Amino acid sequence: MSILSIYGCVDSDNLPCDDSTALSKVSEFPLGTAIKWDEFQLDTNYFHIAKTQFSSYTPENIFKSENLHPTRYNYNWEQADSLMSFCLNNSKRLHGHTLIWHKQLPQWIIDFQGNKSEWEEIFRLHIITIVQHFKGKIKSWDVVNEAFDEDGTLSNTLWKEKIGPGYIEKAFRYAEEADPECLLFYNDFNLESNPVKRTAVLNYLDHLRSRGVKVDGIGLQMHIDVITADATLYALAFRSVYEKNYQLHLSELDISLNPSGKNIVLNEELLLQQADIMGKIVNLYKQVPLPYQYGITFWGISDKNSWIRSNYNRMDYPLLYDDQYNPKPAYCKIKSIL
Ligand code: G3I
Repeated sequence: MSILSIYGCVDSDNLPCDDSTALSKVSEFPLGTAIKWDEFQLDTNYFHIAKTQFSSYTPENIFKSENLHPTRYNYNWEQADSLMSFCLNNSKRLHGHTLIWHKQLPQWIIDFQGNKSEWEEIFRLHIITIVQHFKGKIKSWDVVNEAFDEDGTLSNTLWKEKIGPGYIEKAFRYAEEADPECLLFYNDFNLESNPVKRTAVLNYLDHLRSRGVKVDGIGLQMHIDVITADATLYALAFRSVYEKNYQLHLSELDISLNPSGKNIVLNEELLLQQADIMGKIVNLYKQVPLPYQYGITFWGISDKNSWIRSNYNRMDYPLLYDDQYNPKPAYCKIKSIL
């Protein structure tokens, strides 16, 4: 039985809230979701909500290099092309995630033995081939994902080691070369809450821009939780991005109700806390000037397919829909605000 049947899910007028009207239809900016390919293909409830509620998709995994570029001379376009076609046929924006990341790499890259110029060639070909394949179809890419440490220094990743600290600039330049019209984003976590990291990223991207590199926007992932959420921090973070003329994408929003991994019992208090935080974030995002509102993307649809449960092996309830695909109070709250 859905927990909502106990607590009920009402909107701000205390009226029963349902999802018969799509979130994206009542929003002035794009509302998106991460798309898990298997669920999208096989789970009719998941598919229906994805199709009806959201106007923007971010592939959760199938556009990452381990899936898209499994061997050096072979790209696996099938699933990515199917999702791309669905988006084109159903007026969905597809935000590409992600060209360069140090995680979810195919084994051939991890094992590659080459000199600097051979590494640069595989790096360049990877980016150019993928961006050109989707040229004119994908509206935007997370060109580089999670390249900075919490202290604001450049992370010592495989790419920094093999290509050098200039790999971020090179990645953006190759992406622009492959599709000059595509919007190019840098994406990272904790930018909303760690001013040291955020300032380092902003300074670095400003430096790239001063060298003529095209950087259009920044993704603040927003993997937050009910214990540490702080709307004051988010207000500062959002402003610091758009004031520097970067489009602002809240790119992976979820709100963990169980960050410490305890055996919690989901209750009305936690659900309403989550709704309150979601509401504050949406209200803050509505104050972002329109040209910089790239949108809000939730990192999944239902709590039951959240990455948090599988990656941390803990019960959690971070998203807008519960395990039975019922809208939660957080859904109702943001719908009443949008
Ligand atoms: O595909 C294999 C499958 O064959 C195997 O049976 C199964 C069990 O081992 O694992 C499957 O791979 C999993 C993959 O997701 C696809 O489902 C990996 O184990 C799992 O670690 C991977 O997790 C993804 C995670 O990135 C990897 O770091 C999550 O789904 C995804 O939501 C998460 O997303 C990232 C963003 O891309 C970047 N920002 C952080 C965010 C959360 O980590």
